[in-house]
Amino acid sequence: MIDRPRVAVVAGARPNFVKVAPLIKSLEPWVGVDLIHTGQHYDQAMSKTFFEDLGIFEPDVNLGVGSGSHAEQTAGVLVTMEKRLSEVPVDVLVVVGDVNSTLASALAAVKLRIPVAHVEAGLRSGDWSMPEEINRVVTDRLSTWLFTPSEDADANLLAEGAPADRIHRVGNVMIDTLLSQLPAARSRSETLTRSLGIEEDYALLTLHRPSNVDDWTTLTEITEAIRQISKRVLVVFPMHPRTRGRIADLGIRLPDRVLALDPLGYNDFLALMASARLVLTDSGGIQEETSVLGIPCVTLRESTERPVTCSLGTNTLAGTAAPNIVSASLAAMERSWKPAQIPLWDGKSSERVADVLVKDLLGQEMKEAQAGS
Ligand code: UD1
Repeated sequence: MIDRPRVAVVAGARPNFVKVAPLIKSLEPWVGVDLIHTGQHYDQAMSKTFFEDLGIFEPDVNLGVGSGSHAEQTAGVLVTMEKRLSEVPVDVLVVVGDVNSTLASALAAVKLRIPVAHVEAGLRSGDWSMPEEINRVVTDRLSTWLFTPSEDADANLLAEGAPADRIHRVGNVMIDTLLSQLPAARSRSETLTRSLGIEEDYALLTLHRPSNVDDWTTLTEITEAIRQISKRVLVVFPMHPRTRGRIADLGIRLPDRVLALDPLGYNDFLALMASARLVLTDSGGIQEETSVLGIPCVTLRESTERPVTCSLGTNTLAGTAAPNIVSASLAAMERSWKPAQIPLWDGKSSERVADVLVKDLLGQEMKEAQAGS
């Protein structure tokens, strides 16, 4: 019997849960998996619901870091992750995405000489004012395995001097989850829209980036765009807790034809997204999900780290000026769109990650022996 290597998988914030779910399923047959929740997101609607929807087992530990300034949150994960990894050593630490938990966990691990695998490596917006861009660049520099979703990500890493043998293009693990959950999501679509009182076409809006919601001028500009778009189509708006707080603090009044909701679980959000006329967002992952669904997406940002969603997908970068958002939205609703065919976004990306990691940990022969035992 071969000793099973141990791999710790880290999740901290809402988009992380969507990415770790298929990774855990693909790794579990081969290695011992320790699931570490940093506690960056902690509300039922931001965390627990996702575990339930995606069938993720209870985390082995929750580091309970919670909210705070960037320094507080990053430092909190750094200290608690170091303690956890010292007490429960693992052979590899897997981190996903670009949130503060991703960077802090990777840093804690490499200083303990635990090699790091970064899933969703190589994405670059070129916008150094985005906290996530700093997290991406530094996490990639710290990582031994760089699992990338697309060709542009490989090119970014090579241009920064990453060794080619560390880069493994595997596709998009978030799309693994989307493809596996889509039938369940579609089947609840009608009941859901009925329960929300939605009886007409709608645009779906999400907004949470500090650069959009913490600044009065920008938030007012976006609200004006939404007011104009809502004359054409009802706007459904599940609100991130940060955004709800800022809208209240800044005294912003939402237009009448905006249906404001609490944050939704994964399957409910997917159900709404899959039937929307249009999606307006400042999220990263939603640009990818709408592309695969063939739903037009207008991104309320000046740059994207996911250019493939504009070149091959359904995404338009509109920035945050009201006239641009309105014209991009009307144009996107006029056009007919097809689901994007992006190489390797096929539902098997996590299997590719597991394949590389397990071969490197066990060796090809041992992997075959284990498969046979
Ligand atoms: C984080 C990520 C961002 C990701 C987003 C997804 C970083 C730097 N940012 O942003 O990349 O797109 O998650 O949601 O890591 N809050 C709650 N309950 C929660 C979590 C947050 O009420 O469960 C509120 C708190 O007021 C908190 C604020 O939301 O201060 C922001 O949370 P935080 O984790 O700092 O960042 P996000 O804006 O969620």
